[in-house]
Amino acid sequence: MQWPEIPDDHPTPSLVIHRPTVQDNLRRMQAYCDSHQLRLRPHTKTHKSLVMASDQLACGATGLTVAKVGEARVMRGVCNDILIAYPAVGTRRLQELAELAIDSRITVGIDSRDAAHQLQAAAHSRGITLDILVDLDVGFFRTGIPQSADAVRLCQTIDSMSHLRFRGLMCFPGHLLPNSDPGLWDRYAEALHSVLDQLKACGIFAETVSGGSTPTATVSHRNPFLNEIRPGTYIYNDWNEVRLGVATLEQCAARVLATVVSVPSHQKFIVDAGSKTLSSDRNCVDDQSGFGRVLEFPEAKISRLSEEHGEVTTPDQNTFAMPRVGDRVWLIPNHICVCVNLQNTFFLMDEGSLTEHPVDARGLLV
Ligand SMILES: Cc1ncc(COP(=O)(O)O)c(C=O)c1O
Repeated sequence: MQWPEIPDDHPTPSLVIHRPTVQDNLRRMQAYCDSHQLRLRPHTKTHKSLVMASDQLACGATGLTVAKVGEARVMRGVCNDILIAYPAVGTRRLQELAELAIDSRITVGIDSRDAAHQLQAAAHSRGITLDILVDLDVGFFRTGIPQSADAVRLCQTIDSMSHLRFRGLMCFPGHLLPNSDPGLWDRYAEALHSVLDQLKACGIFAETVSGGSTPTATVSHRNPFLNEIRPGTYIYNDWNEVRLGVATLEQCAARVLATVVSVPSHQKFIVDAGSKTLSSDRNCVDDQSGFGRVLEFPEAKISRLSEEHGEVTTPDQNTFAMPRVGDRVWLIPNHICVCVNLQNTFFLMDEGSLTEHPVDARGLLV
């Protein structure tokens, strides 16, 4: 899809979002979920924006996902059914969470008895009941309970608590790609199957089984135990997703517009987007491949970043014309979620108009 021209006086570096591409990405994911009876609860950590969250809900999402309580506070502006897919522990976090849950449905994913007891105490002090998902480790080795018997014990504990309501299971298959070893996919399904079977035997019903990442999202039906997925990056996509083979460049809805500020040699130019714009995240497929992609120079590499400088180097056998100082180029960051969190605002490009919007939940880490 063609992106319209940007006026000469548009500030750089700036994050520009192409709404028609966003709409395509949202519709494609929603259509997949609808055709497989999966609820879509997008992770809003990618866009951190009320405009984007509203578009996701209008497209059919049944609720939203966040990582942090501060993000939940912001997203409550457009949705009152929010999953905090992160172990919300710590006094300050719990106070704020319990406050939010007074008039919104807040569900929390946890993997320990300690977290359960802290949530129970916070809910008790506010006279509310919190919905809980138990987080299973299905092979990514981050949070989550690896052993099914331990997971079942935690589900039982939660089920017996006065101010917690056991709602089901969650997991994050961050280690999987559509073409991963089928054995890994089988283990993913088996991890859920085993816990669900044991819960059934003790008369506990898991209403929600929530999984999903962007790379696995559109093959989630391979795990028949899921009834909800939480992809986040799919709304914008990025150079990581392209290199992983799960998105095309045309499906990248977010780009950074940068200006060439120096051309120190015939094989190197400097743009005004450094680590404070793009983030220092390396590419997850090839960590030596640089810090993203320059659209106008597909063979060039963003080889080094300072805070405000992006150094773009061209291959030894340089055959293309170098840009001139003042030229503008489009960059696709490796990891758009981190890039978004570095911006105060983004520019939404829609039908020829360009409007500036705040990144509403930017920097909310508590
Ligand atoms: C718990 C959890 N759920 C969902 C997601 C969304 O996955 P993705 O970034 O691949 O869209 C993430 C991403 O980090 C996550 O940590």
